[in-house]
Parts: sequence; C-alpha cells; structure tokens
Amino acid sequence: MRRGSIVQLVAIGVVCGAGAAAVALLIPWLPDPASKQADRIDFVFWFVTAISIAIFALVAAVIIYSLIKFRARPDEDMDGPPIHGNTGLEIAWTAVPAALVTAIAIVSAVVLSDNGRVSAATRSHPLKPLVVNVIAQQFAWNFQYPDFGNINSPTLKLPVGYQVKLEITSLDVIHSFWVPEFSQKQDAVPGSINPLVITPTRTGVFPVICTELCGLGHALMRSQAQVTSKTSFLSWANGEQKKLAGPPSVSGKALFTANACNSCHTFKPAGATAKIGPDLDNLAAEAKQAGQPLDQFIHQSIVSPNAYIQPGFPSGIMPQDFGTRLSKAQLDALASYLASGGKQ
Ligand code: CUA
Repeated sequence: MRRGSIVQLVAIGVVCGAGAAAVALLIPWLPDPASKQADRIDFVFWFVTAISIAIFALVAAVIIYSLIKFRARPDEDMDGPPIHGNTGLEIAWTAVPAALVTAIAIVSAVVLSDNGRVSAATRSHPLKPLVVNVIAQQFAWNFQYPDFGNINSPTLKLPVGYQVKLEITSLDVIHSFWVPEFSQKQDAVPGSINPLVITPTRTGVFPVICTELCGLGHALMRSQAQVTSKTSFLSWANGEQKKLAGPPSVSGKALFTANACNSCHTFKPAGATAKIGPDLDNLAAEAKQAGQPLDQFIHQSIVSPNAYIQPGFPSGIMPQDFGTRLSKAQLDALASYLASGGKQ
C-alpha cells in the first residue's frame, strides 16, 4: 500500500471518529450519575462507547476510501480483480473483536457483581446499610423503613454517602423500580423480594419511575428519590417515628401523608388537593349518601375501599391493603383525624 493511501485512510478515519465522538460527548444521552453504582455503569458505558467509536472510524474509513478509490470509472466495464481471502487479515478481524468483546464482558461482570454487593465495612454503622422496603402497587410507590418503626413515605428519602439496600416487592402485578440518575432497574414482583443496592453520591431530588407497563395508570406511577444529608435524613426519620406514636391529630396527619392519601384525595386540613379519589372534606355528606354512620363509613372506606364507591368515581383504584398495612391504633387515629375534619 502506498504511503499516500495510508495517510488518506487515517485522515478519513480521524474525521469519522471525531464526528462520532462529538455525537457521543456533546449530546447529554444520560443524566449525571448520582450513585456509586451509577458511576460504575457510566464507566462501562464509556468503555463500550470508546471501542465502538474506534471500530466505527475504522470501518467508515475503509468504506469511504474504497468508494472513492475503487469506484467504476465512466468508461470502465471490466469485472473487478478476483481476490481469494487474506489469512492474516481474517485472523486479525476475528481475534481483535473477540478480544474486545471479552474485555467488555469482563468489565461488565465485575461492575455487575460490585453493584450487587453490600459492603461489609458499613455493616457496623447505624445506617448499616439502611434497609428500605419498596412496595409497588397500581399505581403508587410506598417506601417503608423497618429500622425506624416501619414509618412509611410516598417518596424515597435517602442519606447521601450511605449504602442503602432496597428490598423491592409488589402487591399486585409486576412493576419495575427505576431512578435514571441511579442507572439501575429492578423488577417489583408479587411474592418475591428483589434487592437493589444504592449508594447515593450527591444530594438532590430525582424521579422514581415505574418502568414496566403495569396498567392504565402506569405512566402516572411516579415518585421522587430525595437524597439529603445524613442529619436531615435522621431528623426526618426520627420525627416521623415520634409522630406515629403521638396523639391522633398529630399521628392522623402523619399517617395521611405517610400513606400517600394526599396523592389521590383532597383534604384541606392536610393541604391535599388531588382529585383522583373522592373529596375527603365532604366525608359527612358522603357517609349520609352511603347510609352509614360517619366513623364506620370511614373505617370501611379505608379497609375495603370497594365495598361502597362514591358515585362518579371508578372502583378498584384505591389500594386494598391498608387494613394490613396499618395497625388498629393507626387506623383509628387516621379515621378520627378524617372524621374530625382535621380539627381533633
Ligand atoms: Cu407500575 Cu408501571
């Protein structure tokens, strides 16, 4: 091969490689990673991207060079020269991709295994790691903190810098937990508990998305991951734990938000304005319409929500497991909070 041809090939390759690199680098394809696990996945992503760009540049250079150099001239009607293989070239184009694919497999396997590991070093710490039960159901997320008296939260609250082990399950169909900034996804499957380890590396609010088509409300099945300092996380968790043990007016309101009632209902005393379910400011009138005493009506509506459906609202939307999720005392506190219009 002439020296001039090699220079031309390299020049085309550099231009194509630079173009591909610009597309990879200048467009924000992925959100900034916000966890150690996401950093590792990001590394795999760029490792694979760099290899892909190099191969793209090589292939594009050879194709473009050949198109120009060996094109049929207007006056030319001969067949091309007969070429029968090139052993050296064939070994190279088999061995090099095989080595690259093996390298990608090894790097991915190491990252996958690192990302699933709960590090022993943090086990002696109070957040040892922090365990969060993630309960998915049509169409909401509920996050429970077993180490803090089983407090509930409709948003995922995490301390920055500490390893967290999510134990993910579902109460009905298959959902999937995803926070783009944490890079990982994990299915929420009824009857099984799937782990996901996250070590947040920066504070902020990130979207929690259901990434498995799970029914009509799938697109709305979203929440937030709120990563804060360890101090504000602990003050929230300890505060919630105290509120649950407090008098009904305090615990009632805490239960109302902790169980995400505000994501579907309007209830002015709690500052809730959602319109998916009936307006809880009109409970007395609704109980009358249902022909039940107020307190009994409220209890029934929480524990078996499909027993009576307020006209104008669809059935089967409200979760049916509050009877098992709430203790008797919590249920009474929530009911009396609602019955008193938030005044008690
Ligand atoms: Cu839950 Cu989609």
